[in-house]
Amino acid sequence: VIDIRKLYAQAGVFTYDPGFTSTASCDSTITYIDGEAGVLLHRGYPIGQLAKESHYLEVCYLLLYGELPSAAQLEEFETLVTRHTMIHEQMHNFFRGFRRDAHPMATMVGVVGAMSAFYHDSTDINDEHQREVASIRLIAKMPTIAAMAYKYSIGQPFVYPRNDLDYASNFLRMCFSVPAEEYEVNPILARAMDRIFTLHADHEQNASTSTVRLASSSGANPFACIAAGIACLWGPAHGGANQACLEMLREIGTPDRIPEFIERAKDKNDPFRLMGFGHRVYKNFDPRAKVMKESADEVLELLGIENNPTLQVAKELERVALEDPYFAEKKLYPNVDFYSGIILDAMGFPTSMFTPIFALARTVGWVSQWKEQLADPQLKIGRPRQLYLGAAQRDYVDIEQR
Ligand code: ACO
Repeated sequence: VIDIRKLYAQAGVFTYDPGFTSTASCDSTITYIDGEAGVLLHRGYPIGQLAKESHYLEVCYLLLYGELPSAAQLEEFETLVTRHTMIHEQMHNFFRGFRRDAHPMATMVGVVGAMSAFYHDSTDINDEHQREVASIRLIAKMPTIAAMAYKYSIGQPFVYPRNDLDYASNFLRMCFSVPAEEYEVNPILARAMDRIFTLHADHEQNASTSTVRLASSSGANPFACIAAGIACLWGPAHGGANQACLEMLREIGTPDRIPEFIERAKDKNDPFRLMGFGHRVYKNFDPRAKVMKESADEVLELLGIENNPTLQVAKELERVALEDPYFAEKKLYPNVDFYSGIILDAMGFPTSMFTPIFALARTVGWVSQWKEQLADPQLKIGRPRQLYLGAAQRDYVDIEQR
């Protein structure tokens, strides 16, 4: 009989770290976070500066290649991305295979995984040129795929990309144009959309990025790896929190009901948590939430809906929670998802589109981390250990004797 404890003793030292709270899975030069100080840097540049002074495709270049582009490099990169926004016409049939009211995240997991079947010429991970083409294809086609998943879920015809528009405007138009009425993109809303993309572009080894890296460590093709990332992002503890947060704010409805929800969040017998609050790494404030809050104010002012009841509830909830000793003691602050939903809602997106928008924005982070991982000469297949607590070895018992 095998003595499991003896086996562990022989196995030498290994760490038991549920949720990987103190285990680094890789080294990386892409993103730096100081959770205590509320700092987030991409390739050394603070997120606040990038969100306000740069724009999404420039940040994509920075994440992918390590430096800010020159004007010529940026133009070349933007042209390349723009040229790849179309998806293969045959993929339209793939969308149509889904149930008519499928959640857009469900469709995206399937369609992005299926890109490996449509773009064979960029699935060889050992070929640097193919890796490059796959990266550009993913970043370029994700808005088209997300918009198509949305259009399909509401029973409207697909809108093709228009390559004279910038990345964010093109996405807004593909979501909101209908055959009878061309959507006029408001540049301020396009800027706010671009800022949401920038604020979500990368966030080092979060759950979905770690999933992409783990999937890729076996040598899986890039589209399959990114589909795995999208699946992981969907959960309400991660990217799905933006949808859950807005739904919670609507359920609260009016500021006078806030204390009831605060009490529920503190009750350990109630599984309810304040959505949009707390973060594994940020224990002071989430620097993305700060910019997002400013953006929410701008967008609602532009649309003339500053008195939006959801925003009023959000602001009051933030104030009450920050003054509550429970949240202070546990260092729970609003995260990036707390205000993004309010902006997206004001733009006209249904809550089911919040997480797909996060996924399209995070694609560049996943792709950058995937490329970095493949360039690592020390790359090993990811294979966590476990602490086995099950039965010791025993003999099979015939069914009549059980
Ligand atoms: N509401 C109430 N209590 C909370 C909340 C919350 N939102 N978040 C954490 N806590 C409490 C926990 O109950 C726990 O209490 P305990 O020590 O008495 O057991 C303590 O704070 C620590 O929480 P953990 O879950 O251990 O922290 P962890 O780092 O594992 O989780 C997470 C972080 C998942 C983000 C969590 O704060 C949460 O569920 N928040 C709500 C969902 C959300 O907004 N997710 C978005 C994250 S940001 C993003 O993905 C872009």
